[in-house]
Amino acid sequence: MKLSLNDVAFEPTRRCNLVCHHCMRGPGQNMDMSPKFIDAFFERNDIEYINHICFSGGEPTLNPEIITYTIEKIINEKKAVGSVSTVTNGQIFSKEIVDAFNHFNQYRNRQSIDEIPKKYQACSEDTIRKLIKDNTDNHARITFSKDQYHKEVPSKIEELYLRESQGLKITSTPYLEQEKIYKTGNATFGRDFDYQLDQLRYYEEKDSYVVFDLLYLTASGYITTEGMGTYQDMDQINTGHVSNVTIPEILVDYGTPIFKTKKLTRDDIKR
Ligand SMILES: C[S@@+](CC[C@H](N)C(=O)[O-])C[C@H]1O[C@@H](n2cnc3c(N)ncnc32)[C@H](O)[C@@H]1O
Ligand code: SF4
Repeated sequence: MKLSLNDVAFEPTRRCNLVCHHCMRGPGQNMDMSPKFIDAFFERNDIEYINHICFSGGEPTLNPEIITYTIEKIINEKKAVGSVSTVTNGQIFSKEIVDAFNHFNQYRNRQSIDEIPKKYQACSEDTIRKLIKDNTDNHARITFSKDQYHKEVPSKIEELYLRESQGLKITSTPYLEQEKIYKTGNATFGRDFDYQLDQLRYYEEKDSYVVFDLLYLTASGYITTEGMGTYQDMDQINTGHVSNVTIPEILVDYGTPIFKTKKLTRDDIKR
């Protein structure tokens, strides 16, 4: 069964160089994601397109190797991915992440330059030029967590990211309102949060199933549909391990069809 995924997150590591007192994850763990989980995610599922992949954590700059590995896999295997991002506490300058993201940006730019003229043959040259311009750069984003609970991002580090960026989008999160904080992990304040799996909305388009909601792959290899819990919650309450479960099976068990799509059954997803 062909799949299109809207929103995917990978957890490169559960290690962290800070202990923020609002952190939803709870105590850090000495665990990095293995490349075999990334391979299993792509190889056990027939994924046609991913709109966006975010590398979260833990602190992603502590395991840039898995980010490079994933990006190079996407490029070498010519996978269709719309954009990538990461969110970091900004204490470390990771040249590896910038290089990988620059490479992804170039890969996506080439796709826009090749595909747009083919796709919009009827448009004028001016329109095509504009479409190419609008569709190049900003396919990869680095976000610094600059809320009041993080240690300040050293300006030197931010400058290095800006200096090495080739068309990356570099942004920062702002002040974090109390009501946006989930009371889980290290967070003793904020709004109550009960970790439970969200239903995954999906619909059928042409011959593929489009999954609307977040799929989160943890460093331990579990897939979950809720990205706001502790490491412990995610390991206990999840939709299965990436080596044992496929996304169509997850849709049968945890999916809600939308747009008059019929509910998938085990029989529908037999290959
Ligand atoms: C879990 S961190 C992982 C990435 C990286 N270590 C960082 O802090 O940017 C991702 C984002 O979640 C936010 N966050 C952490 N705990 C939260 C909580 N309890 N409620 C809401 N957002 C939280 C952080 O501020 C950060 O912007
Ligand atoms: S919010 Fe990010 S930087 Fe802070 S402790 Fe959690 S994972 Fe680490």
